Amino acid sequence: MNDKVQTGTSVLLPAATIDLFLKDKETSEAARSLVNDWRFARVTVSVEEGDIETAIQSYEQAGSPSLIIIETDTTGDSFVGRLEALSANCDEGTAAIIVGPVNDVNLYRKLTSMGVSDYLVRPVAQDTLSEVIAKTLIDQMGVSDSRLIAVVGAKGGVGTTSLTQALVLGLSQDLNQKTFLMDAAGGWSTLGIGLGFEPIAKISEATRVAANHDVDSLKRLLVQPNDKLSVLASGSDPMLENMVEPEEYETLIDLLMTSYPVVVVDLSASRPALKKAVLSRAHELLLVTTPTLPSLRAARTLMHEIKTLQGGATHGLDLVVNMQGLAPGKEVPKADIKAALEREPSTVIPFDPKLFFGAEAEGKNISQMKGGEQIVDLMLPLARKVVKNPSEKNVESTDAGENGLLGQVLNKFKTKS
Ligand SMILES: Nc1ncnc2c1ncn2[C@@H]1O[C@H](COP(=O)(O)OP(=O)(O)OP(=O)(O)O)[C@@H](O)[C@H]1O
Ligand SMILES: [Mg+2]
Repeated sequence: MNDKVQTGTSVLLPAATIDLFLKDKETSEAARSLVNDWRFARVTVSVEEGDIETAIQSYEQAGSPSLIIIETDTTGDSFVGRLEALSANCDEGTAAIIVGPVNDVNLYRKLTSMGVSDYLVRPVAQDTLSEVIAKTLIDQMGVSDSRLIAVVGAKGGVGTTSLTQALVLGLSQDLNQKTFLMDAAGGWSTLGIGLGFEPIAKISEATRVAANHDVDSLKRLLVQPNDKLSVLASGSDPMLENMVEPEEYETLIDLLMTSYPVVVVDLSASRPALKKAVLSRAHELLLVTTPTLPSLRAARTLMHEIKTLQGGATHGLDLVVNMQGLAPGKEVPKADIKAALEREPSTVIPFDPKLFFGAEAEGKNISQMKGGEQIVDLMLPLARKVVKNPSEKNVESTDAGENGLLGQVLNKFKTKS
């Protein structure tokens, strides 16, 4: 049924579990091949020979997965009845996709109105299966419209934090986007300096409240440099202690992405495990480097690792060359940068110590400084990439759990009786 080409699914999917109960050999084969799709690296897929009866039995005792895919030979009222029995055994957030024998628009409408995410006709080809699953999981997690931007430095001190700040100022002030900014540096954070706040929060506090879905407590850990920009005022974590685990940090990202259309993470001064977790799932990656040999070498190595992380082809990566003019005569020329990194820098930012150090010394953000708007303007094309329609008012949040959940089948029947 789903013959539209889906967009926005070219991301590493959230950690999820999928159980498939199938009889058709070709569809089973396609399901088993999902492990080869880079987007499924964190998705556990289990394929079992069976049908809706097998599924009902499976969840009598055990908890249900994120998504169930069931093949059926029958499509009449009796099947719909069995679907109701299945939903009674499932946890509220579980989604369902049905694979059936015939193309039947009425059945499709009926099933989707009951909360089933999609109806597919067997045999299902692998690209259709992976696309429909990706779409379902993204909808289910409520992150379909939100964009995650990761900004990472090839090495320390290349200006990652400063340029992340210029980027979020562009997003919030110039493009009118509701934006969230945080870093993953814990006690090593310098975010407060450029944005003029005292660190009042620990990242570990933020991840704890996120795990409890305690949005009110999270709000107390934020500052708002302008109407559209919220920043996690972290930095009071101890410098010499391990902070949070990647999974905990991701829980925080998940929560933020249900409320903010754009979430930006400054990865400078964070540990590799957190960098990896965020880079794996970001829609846009900005890699900041200076035009110097040590930094460019590190950039090349990091780009290779990102490529591997993304399954062999790099998606959404932009190269930002910062501090051009820092060491005249000793810098690597633009043409050589392109040859070494096999891509053109998306933007080049001049070395301007008066402006950057001046902003820090005066406790101002860069756009409040004379000449600072030009730096924001140089970052704007990158900001625009994640904004669907800059003239449009910002995209508001999508509510997780509103559609396509199997739990709704039960609710529907409950309200009927
Ligand atoms: N284009 C520039 N011209 C001049 N100075 C700059 C420029 N970009 C950043 N700086 C300055 O360089 C210093 C380091 O920048 P910043 O803290 O943003 O780097 P970083 O990569 O985040 O560092 P860390 O690895 O410590 O997190 C700061 O004092 C900043 O003001
Ligand atoms: Mg930094």
